[in-house]
Amino acid sequence: MTTLLRVSVLISVMALVAGCATPGPSEDSLYQDLGKRAGIAEMVEDLMYRIVEDDRIAFQFKDIDVVQFHTNLTDQLCELSGGPCTYTGRPMTDVHDGMNVTETQFNALAEQLVLAMEDNGISTSAQNRLLERLVELHPQITHR
Ligand code: HEM
Repeated sequence: MTTLLRVSVLISVMALVAGCATPGPSEDSLYQDLGKRAGIAEMVEDLMYRIVEDDRIAFQFKDIDVVQFHTNLTDQLCELSGGPCTYTGRPMTDVHDGMNVTETQFNALAEQLVLAMEDNGISTSAQNRLLERLVELHPQITHR
C-alpha cells in the first residue's frame, strides 16, 4: 500500500473509532521504538526539511520560529508516545486557529512524517502506532 493511501486509510479508520481508543500497555514501548527523545528529535528535524520542500504545505510554515517548532513538536511526540517529556507548547486548537488546515494538508504532513520515519529506520508497526495517536488530534488541527 502506498504511504499516502496508508495514511488516508488510517485517518478514516481512526476517525470512526475516535473516542473508543484507550492507551494500551505499549505506550512506553512506542517511545523506545521511536528511538527515545533523541530519535524523535532527528525525525522531527527531517520532517521539517521535508515540509519546506512540499508545495502543498510549505507556505503555511513560512513565518514559524524554527527552534520553537522543533522543540515543541519533539516534546509533543515524545509525550504522546509514552516518553518522559512534557509538552509545554500552546494547545493544538490555539496553534492552528485561523490556518484553515485542509484534509489534503493534514494528509500531506502525515505523509511526510511517515517518510521521515522511514528515513530513520522506524518500523512500520511503530509508524502506525504513532499515526493512530496523531489522528486523535485531527479535529483540533483541521478546518480551524
Ligand atoms: C499531525 C498533525 C500535526 C501536529 C501533531 C502538529 C503539531 C504542532 C505543534 C506541536 C506545533 C508547535 C506549537 C507551539 O509552538 O506552541 C505546531 C505548530 C504549527 N503547526 Fe502544526 N501540527 C500538525 C499539523 C499541521 C498542519 C497539517 C499544518 C499546516 C499545513 C500545521 C501548521 C503549523 C504551523 C504553521 C505552526 C506554527 C504556528 C506558530 O508558531 O504560530 N500543523 N504544530
